[in-house]
Amino acid sequence: MPSVYIKTYGCQMNERDSEAVAAQLVSKGYTLAKSETTADVVLLNTCSVRDMAEQKALNKMENLIGAARKKRPNVIFGFMGCMAQSRGKQLVDQLPDLDLVIGTQKFHRAAEYLDELLAGKRDKIVDVEEEKGSEATIREHLLSGAKASKAVSAFVSIMQGCNQYCTFCIVPYTRGEERSRTIEDVVVECQQLVAGGVKEITLLGQIVTSYGKRDIKVKDGKSAFVQLIEAVHEINGLERIRFTSPHPKGYGDDLVEAFGRLPKLCESAHLPLQSGSDRLLKLMHRGYTRERFITIIKQLRQSQPKIAVTTDIIVGFPGETEADFEETMSLCREVQFDNAYIFKYSQRKDTPAAEMPDQIPQELIEDRHLRLLTAVNEIAATRYDAFIGKTTEILVEGPSKKNPARMTGRTRCNRIVLFDGNSRHSGQLMDVKIERTGSFTLYGDPAILNLD
Ligand code: SAH
Ligand code: F3S
Repeated sequence: MPSVYIKTYGCQMNERDSEAVAAQLVSKGYTLAKSETTADVVLLNTCSVRDMAEQKALNKMENLIGAARKKRPNVIFGFMGCMAQSRGKQLVDQLPDLDLVIGTQKFHRAAEYLDELLAGKRDKIVDVEEEKGSEATIREHLLSGAKASKAVSAFVSIMQGCNQYCTFCIVPYTRGEERSRTIEDVVVECQQLVAGGVKEITLLGQIVTSYGKRDIKVKDGKSAFVQLIEAVHEINGLERIRFTSPHPKGYGDDLVEAFGRLPKLCESAHLPLQSGSDRLLKLMHRGYTRERFITIIKQLRQSQPKIAVTTDIIVGFPGETEADFEETMSLCREVQFDNAYIFKYSQRKDTPAAEMPDQIPQELIEDRHLRLLTAVNEIAATRYDAFIGKTTEILVEGPSKKNPARMTGRTRCNRIVLFDGNSRHSGQLMDVKIERTGSFTLYGDPAILNLD
């Protein structure tokens, strides 16, 4: 059977989509190639959120095709995901040796299309149509084989798309309208994962806090999303629940309260801020004010004092003045995020912000990026240092990628912990004492492990 290599760009949703495609192909008899240079089929799962991610994938494909042309002319090359969706047929026009373009509602058709291409029945396939029900098709998992060490923790897609239309963001165009799976469907998938040894589940979607809004009624003051978390929480053997990516406006009283009430819901909340300036928040169409954002974080910390709060921020949105930027800086000082991802604004085709006046020059974007990054990293480091000397529960994921002699695990608040353990600890929950910190990493002492 042919071998396939999938390279993924972008977010956890993309990682999950790639896993589902890989699992689908394996179940049809394909093998997973160790390298792109030996595979019979190479698929790049792409990201469109910033221009750089698109350019990386395009360059990669050009290089791969160039290298294979002489020596291995029969290799099948395909793009999947967000850039495949937004550029469609244009990609095969630009790269004549490209064979396949699979949009974001068509991942489940990968095997069928590859079979047709490999059998020579069709020469090229581009499919970026909408497909009703596609939100429930990302369900196969790779729980054994090459990636088995990951099986302690799994991602489950609960919805697709986003209707928020933030003015800078391409996601509503690449992922389409919000469409949610049913609670029952998600729970069955989670039960199967837990039966297979999974202890931690991350519920995934582009805006998970809007899960089920249209189809599932509020019950006892609880939104559909909180109802879903409660249903997953019931699963025996599941230890930890996480979710990503939420929207700040989705942290209503019901979700805030759930962090204090549900023991499996991990003490980690991501609230993408984007900007600390009310003027820019409005232009971005974010749907909250600076004050409301700060209030939510206060409420979360009251409900669950151990909670770690992380964020995403964009610098250089069109029209951002020094005063706007200072508002973002001051909010970061006030809130003290445990981690913040700072992005340089990237103009995205067909988004409203791309047409706004006063696009910010690149040097100024770079300057603000560096200033904000320095400030948030300093704050984050002090919050990491506060762990030194403390004992904390980790879920051991397996050997560290950088140094396989070390094991890696995660705290409930989603910090990475490295320690000198043994691979038989994979998948275990254990307490470690934090001895020191590195860059966004905690180091635990093996001597104090409560090993069985
Ligand atoms: N809920 C989505 C968020 C979109 S992308 C998700 O996680 O999939 C993640 C982050 O990328 C956003 O929170 C935002 O900070 C950043 N981002 C989105 N569009 C951007 C753009 N045009 N330029 C720079 N950063 C962007
Ligand atoms: Fe993008 Fe805003 Fe939705 S950042 S994914 S449009 S919440």
